[in-house]
Amino acid sequence: MHPGLWREIWILIGIAVLSLFFGALTDHPFLIAACGFGFYIAWTLRHLRNLHRWLLDRRAGDIPEAGGLWGEVFDEIYKLVKQASRRQDQLSGMLARFQKAASAMPDAVVVLSQAGDIEWANRSAAGLIGIRYPHDAGVRLLNLLRVPGFAQYLERGEYVEPLEITSPDNREIHVSIQITPFGSSQKLVIGRDVTRLMRLEQMRRHFVANVSHELRTPLTVLGGYVETLRQMDQIKMEDLKKHLSTMHEQSLRMQRLVDDLLMLSKLETASPRTHDEPVDVSALLTSLKEQAMLLSGENHHDITLETDPSLKLLGSREELHSAFSNLINNAVRYTPAGGTIRLTWRAAGDGAEFAVTDTGEGIAPEHFPHLTERFYRVDTARSRASGGTGLGLSIVKHVLLRHDARLEIESDVGQGSAFHCVFPEQRVARA
Ligand SMILES: Nc1ncnc2c1ncn2[C@@H]1O[C@H](COP(=O)(O)OP(=O)(O)OP(=O)(O)O)[C@@H](O)[C@H]1O
Ligand SMILES: [Mg+2]
Repeated sequence: MHPGLWREIWILIGIAVLSLFFGALTDHPFLIAACGFGFYIAWTLRHLRNLHRWLLDRRAGDIPEAGGLWGEVFDEIYKLVKQASRRQDQLSGMLARFQKAASAMPDAVVVLSQAGDIEWANRSAAGLIGIRYPHDAGVRLLNLLRVPGFAQYLERGEYVEPLEITSPDNREIHVSIQITPFGSSQKLVIGRDVTRLMRLEQMRRHFVANVSHELRTPLTVLGGYVETLRQMDQIKMEDLKKHLSTMHEQSLRMQRLVDDLLMLSKLETASPRTHDEPVDVSALLTSLKEQAMLLSGENHHDITLETDPSLKLLGSREELHSAFSNLINNAVRYTPAGGTIRLTWRAAGDGAEFAVTDTGEGIAPEHFPHLTERFYRVDTARSRASGGTGLGLSIVKHVLLRHDARLEIESDVGQGSAFHCVFPEQRVARA
């Protein structure tokens, strides 16, 4: 048995023995015993009353003090109460943290009651699906989120596939809605911003359409020639050579397109840092100038080169070759015969600059922001006729990005253009 209980029994036995002893002395044993037990019952009732009071209003003070078994009972109750309050504190802390985390989530989160009323919503819900908490608390979600398809989706009760909607406040934002039932028929509505994903998907579709379109023309021409040759029984050597040369041209065009696409994909997927070898830009430009003169051929452009041979560039020779040759080829291709093309490589500010200036047809300013987009051409027919795929400046942009450099374009229609590649100080090494 519990020692505290033994003590109480001993007290009761003590009271009985003392009552008998004093009762024998005074001839009133029952009266004395009644007084002794009465006193014990009063003492017990007092502790019961104190405990009851304390339980009713625990905040009023500490648990009452007592001795004996009552003291132990009070201590045990006090421990239990402390434990419970600690657990409650932990739970409310956890709940507060969860709510804080859900509030800070970039996705919209709305908790719906069984009846479909808004019980709680986080901050992102305002921007993405126009639900403002606590302002909209208690309102039916269907009354606020009136977008096509949502009512049917919410009522269908089957939420395996998400629903894509446009944000009611901003038509540019696409939101993917997913509903998760929980608890007793409550629902958690989560809205995720998928605008970037949709844009990427659209870009991918455009890209595939563009590539197919670019490949179709040369393939059709090639196919046409092959078919013609197949049906001919006899053909003059001279005609055959002419046909073969056109076919060769078309196959070169396809080859160029595929090479450019591979180059772009390599630039996009390669790790961000380029191999930092000091590139002798002067030597590179000297060889590119010779190639430009070959490309110019009978157009007899006046091509000049000014360089500072002591200036080296830290980067990838292969990538810089590709970017600079694209800019130089553009100048040759879009400058009428006899025009002037100036190539310069010199220090500029703390860094260095490569510039190609031509006296060609020029570009209207409204095209500037689009020039580095894939397949963008100012005059599609003309560029395509001259063998352009519209990927050149896109490659230039990527190469410059990988070399921490920027592209600056100046141009006047009919006057000419200047393309500047500006490299920062940390990319330049002086011999
Ligand atoms: N120096 C320039 N003068 C005039 N227009 C230019 C010049 N450079 C580029 N452009 C215009 O910018 C467009 C995009 O150039 P970009 O080099 O990206 O493609 P492209 O030359 O058509 O094809 P690619 O370079 O892939 O063979 C060109 O189609 C052309 O209209
Ligand atoms: Mg080009």
